[in-house]
Amino acid sequence: MNRPALEGLRLNVPAAVRHAKLIAWVAEMAALTEAREVYWCDGSDAEYDRLCARLVTAGTFKKLNPELRPNSYLACSSPSDVARVEDRTFICSQTQDEAGPTNNWMAPAEMRALLQTGPNALFRGCMRGRTMYVVPFSMGPLGSPIAHIGVELSDSAYVAVNMKIMTRMGAKVLDVLGTDGHFVPCMHTVGAPLEPDQKDVSWPCNATKYIVHYPETREIWSYGSGYGVNALLGKKCFALRIASTMGRDQGWLAEHMLILGVTSPEGKKHHVAAAFPSACGKTNFAMLIPPEGLKGWKVTTIGDDIAWIKPGADGRLHAINPEAGYFGVAPGTNELTNANCMASLKRDVIFTNVALTNDGDVWWEGMTDTPPARLTDWQGKDWSPAIAKATGAKAAHPNSRFTVAATNNPALDPEWDNPAGVPIDAFIFGGRRSTTVPLVTEARNWVEGVYMAATMGSETTAAMVGGNGTVRRDPFAMLPFIGYNMSDYFQHWLGLGAKLEATRATLPKIYCVNWFRKGADGKFVWPGYGENMRVLAWMIGRIEGTAQGRQNAFGTTPGYGDLSWSGLDFSAAQFDQVTSLDPQAWKTELGLHTELFQQLAHHLPVEMTATKAKIDQRLAA
Ligand code: GTP
Ligand code: SPV
Ligand code: MN
Repeated sequence: MNRPALEGLRLNVPAAVRHAKLIAWVAEMAALTEAREVYWCDGSDAEYDRLCARLVTAGTFKKLNPELRPNSYLACSSPSDVARVEDRTFICSQTQDEAGPTNNWMAPAEMRALLQTGPNALFRGCMRGRTMYVVPFSMGPLGSPIAHIGVELSDSAYVAVNMKIMTRMGAKVLDVLGTDGHFVPCMHTVGAPLEPDQKDVSWPCNATKYIVHYPETREIWSYGSGYGVNALLGKKCFALRIASTMGRDQGWLAEHMLILGVTSPEGKKHHVAAAFPSACGKTNFAMLIPPEGLKGWKVTTIGDDIAWIKPGADGRLHAINPEAGYFGVAPGTNELTNANCMASLKRDVIFTNVALTNDGDVWWEGMTDTPPARLTDWQGKDWSPAIAKATGAKAAHPNSRFTVAATNNPALDPEWDNPAGVPIDAFIFGGRRSTTVPLVTEARNWVEGVYMAATMGSETTAAMVGGNGTVRRDPFAMLPFIGYNMSDYFQHWLGLGAKLEATRATLPKIYCVNWFRKGADGKFVWPGYGENMRVLAWMIGRIEGTAQGRQNAFGTTPGYGDLSWSGLDFSAAQFDQVTSLDPQAWKTELGLHTELFQQLAHHLPVEMTATKAKIDQRLAA
């Protein structure tokens, strides 16, 4: 910079910031976006309150009744900006091969022209009339050797306050960054510049959206959406898409997994990481309350969405939760399904796209059996059960969410922010399948487990725009989140397993589960939620060598008598409904595995097709 003093003034750089590269980048981006002013977030509670008040004035936030929901807000987005946009998400690696057949790709230079450098580049002037918030954040405990730092520049105060809850955010991050620490630059704009006399709307966004990742240079550029993980760039963009690439390069894993601690009645503690696609049960499983009949078991939450997993000196895999809060699905959450979650939401919450009650509290489908008589729905319209019956209108959007600090969770594990992480005893993979896939299967070995995870299918949900319940392959629940070639990702898992096996370490067991089989009446047969403890307890028994199972073509599964049914009326016939293997359905299913492998043929590890051949043989026998 030629005139540092002058520039410093305009950029409002706090005196404590000594990172020349960061300051230069902020200056460059302020110039590109023509932001009206630059504000550096310090991450303090006072700042949070101030920004929330500003959002109330702007009409983005409604303050909820402080007696019913202290220090909490409701934001309602534009109906066009309610979920992840997969068709607008890009992995811009140097070659298309590196992004692979499952990612949208564009050459980096071409994308940069579109966003930054071209004559009509979208980011040029995109923040006119708006404040550019500088949001420094750490994914993982501050200063820990496994944590990574990002700085998000955003023209959304909603992003700044959500990032305060979801990450370790603020001045303390800049201290750790020092004069030359590495950070992932995360550019975000809602794409709605304001002309001098233009009145703002309560949820600015743009019909054009780009969620762009440059894995080689570890950069994120997000345009046009203010919602969820399109805008809170520490989450899927950084902690999964960019971090998966870092993990491949550096020998670790960034996964779409919850992490939980499970303590047996004898007091022995294990740790489990579980991958389910978006809106398929991670947050619920992470906060599970064991049923009465399984008293003595205890589940504690380490993370509810993302795990960073690294091999330790002990030859085991250790997992940390890089986040500090939960951005969870509201609908379906209630005192019976997830009392820990309901307790977490008592205060200090940002709700997005749920309904507003007449007394200034929130409601969503599934919160109570009987809905309130009158509500304001997430689009600001009058809502009543009669209106819902007539028009099908939902009070809350199916992908409505809450943002809340992990420290609000009564089941938070004491190790949740231990920089060393927790040692993983089992990996679980689960999709949402109304048919075909049984309740639980244990892989006989690491390769078979990788195969199960790689071929997993799931019905799409409201967490993605266009999600309509159709089954698609979602390998490792990572289809929308891998920052590189899917086949190389399978190889990375196989390679890591082989490397650990060579040290004679005990590898985590791998399980495939499905809570979502439906009966002829269209209802879920398996009671799910807390009752999932029965399956988890069987897994722990298997790890301990005490639980029985029988072999089938895919792996090892429990018989009816191998699970505890204490306190639950669930018959052998019902058990059969959630565990039976329909040969015809599996023929179709394996055909879909073949289709996936054809799509991923380039670089596909031979172990995948070899494992499938063995399954085909066993099924034929
Ligand atoms: P993301 O935050 O989008 O990644 O979703 P998630 O994987 O954390 O899913 P979450 O736990 O929020 O659950 C999504 C929906 O599935 C909610 O409506 C839950 O009520 C429902 N759900 C969760 N667990 C179960 C279960 O065991 N059985 C049934 N039937 N539904 C479940
Ligand atoms: C997810 O897909 O895991 C999300 C989606 O969190 S969204 O609610 O759209 O941010
Ligand atoms: Mn979740």
